[in-house]
Amino acid sequence: MSIAVVGGAGYIGSHAVRALLAQNRDIVVIDNLETGHEESVPEGVQFYKGDIRDRDFLNEVFEHEQIDQVVHFAANSLVGESMENPLKYYDNNVFGTQILLETMIKHGVKNIVFSSSAATYGEQKKMPITEEAPTAPTSAYGETKLAMERMMKWCDAAHGTKFVSLRYFNVAGASASGVIGEDHEPETHLIPLVLQVANGQREHITIFGEDYPTEDGTCIRDYIHVEDLVDAHILALDYLKEGGESDIFNLGSNQGFSVKEIVETARTVTGHKIPAVIGEKRAGDPAVLIASSEKARKTLEWSPSRTDIVTIIRDAWNWHQHHPHGYKGADRS
Ligand code: UFG
Repeated sequence: MSIAVVGGAGYIGSHAVRALLAQNRDIVVIDNLETGHEESVPEGVQFYKGDIRDRDFLNEVFEHEQIDQVVHFAANSLVGESMENPLKYYDNNVFGTQILLETMIKHGVKNIVFSSSAATYGEQKKMPITEEAPTAPTSAYGETKLAMERMMKWCDAAHGTKFVSLRYFNVAGASASGVIGEDHEPETHLIPLVLQVANGQREHITIFGEDYPTEDGTCIRDYIHVEDLVDAHILALDYLKEGGESDIFNLGSNQGFSVKEIVETARTVTGHKIPAVIGEKRAGDPAVLIASSEKARKTLEWSPSRTDIVTIIRDAWNWHQHHPHGYKGADRS
């Protein structure tokens, strides 16, 4: 039986593929390559290029393969873009998940682990954020992730499809191997942008606002290493296989770093100056987001080991230094 890694050619999905292969799990990768990179899919892995909104395509894959579990990373994930084009997010994230669930139900596949987001919480007063916190997304992106969670809940009630929803905080870093990493076009995330300045590909980093109610006035986020993050997915797959109930877990490092602290750490790690200028606040950015991941630690026995921000930035830097243009020009690895 195989695990279908949906969105397996993307930033997080490609790291999950490596982690699953390292444990000798049978996998198939499904990706429409809208934002994913075929070069990231290892040679020898069964790869299906197609869109989860395409019922016939998905049905064929599930007919052809003996799939018993699904890990679902396929989604659009830019907060800003979702505010300008919310229906793109409903279409790919919500409708795409609907077709995926329909196909799973049709083929008797009972387990799904999927990417949710801290964006489901919106602004919160109480830190760290636990799974009991009220959900109040402040973006269309966050709203679609919440809708996906709710859809899973009702499919569990009606069809017994068990799910684990993993609410990511700020995912960063890259495989310690240096072979795969983050390659978005356009890039909007802080750590890769800061490293592009260190690389000489950008002149400066713009810090979005310095009058937030935090110690240095810049936003605080909880950064989680992508390899720690994918470990939780494998634990969640095993949890479901062992009969675990559907549930939701936060994934973060339980520690916050300000934008200025990230820039400063990147200066130390790279040895580059990294000029920074203060710009306008970005719409929809909460001041502070810090996870409590106690529940994942307890229930899934997840124990992230790369929580040091220096390690996270160092591994990302290793990737960016060796792949300044991402996967461009790379062969399928
Ligand atoms: N930032 C800057 N300058 C930049 C880019 C980002 O100052 O050029 C700041 C942002 O304002 C924010 C912090 O750096 O305070 C982190 O920003 P990112 O864009 O890297 O990440 P976000 O916190 O906006 O987004 C992450 C995930 C989303 C998820 C969101 C939950 O990438 O998928 O957390 O709020 F929805």
